[in-house]
Amino acid sequence: MPETSAIYPGSFDPITNGHVDIIERGLRVFDRVVVAVLKNPKKRPLFTTKERVRMIHEIFASRSEVEVRAFDGLLVDFARSQGTGVVIRGLRAVSDFEYEFQMALMNHSLAPDIETFFMMPSVDYTFLSSSMVREIAELGGPIEGLVPGPVARKLRDRIRGAKKVQIP
Ligand code: PNS
Repeated sequence: MPETSAIYPGSFDPITNGHVDIIERGLRVFDRVVVAVLKNPKKRPLFTTKERVRMIHEIFASRSEVEVRAFDGLLVDFARSQGTGVVIRGLRAVSDFEYEFQMALMNHSLAPDIETFFMMPSVDYTFLSSSMVREIAELGGPIEGLVPGPVARKLRDRIRGAKKVQIP
């Protein structure tokens, strides 16, 4: 049987346990999942592209079926360049639906050969987003259980560093 593959794009600033869950679910369906990290999200990222890619690499170091790449430009073009015709997106709640529906339709109109494949994360992660994790960390709250251990440490270090350079 030919190898099946899918691309899982996002900002991943930083990767959360919800993203990890979707990647693992994706691997139950596809032989290979390419995690595609958007190079320049409109919002100024807390972590550089290199840092975001490195963190995901570290988490999936023992899984050769997970590839991590940075991308810019159109997602559908990048998907084609990776030899895949499937885009995975996680749907946490109804509130995600409108944006995701619009993006899937736009991608389909740009590239009718590329399908969007929606997956639901575990109910434990339906409330989780990278922006909320950043906010909790900034306010000194607990982020354990929300992001993988190495990410939690890097997040705390980054926020501590940012606070040091703040002008009172
Ligand atoms: O995790 P995010 O920030 O919701 O991911 C958004 C992402 C990276 C999937 C989206 O912004 C994207 O695909 N950007 C690439 C540009 C593109 O192809 N735009 C047209 C489709 S709307």
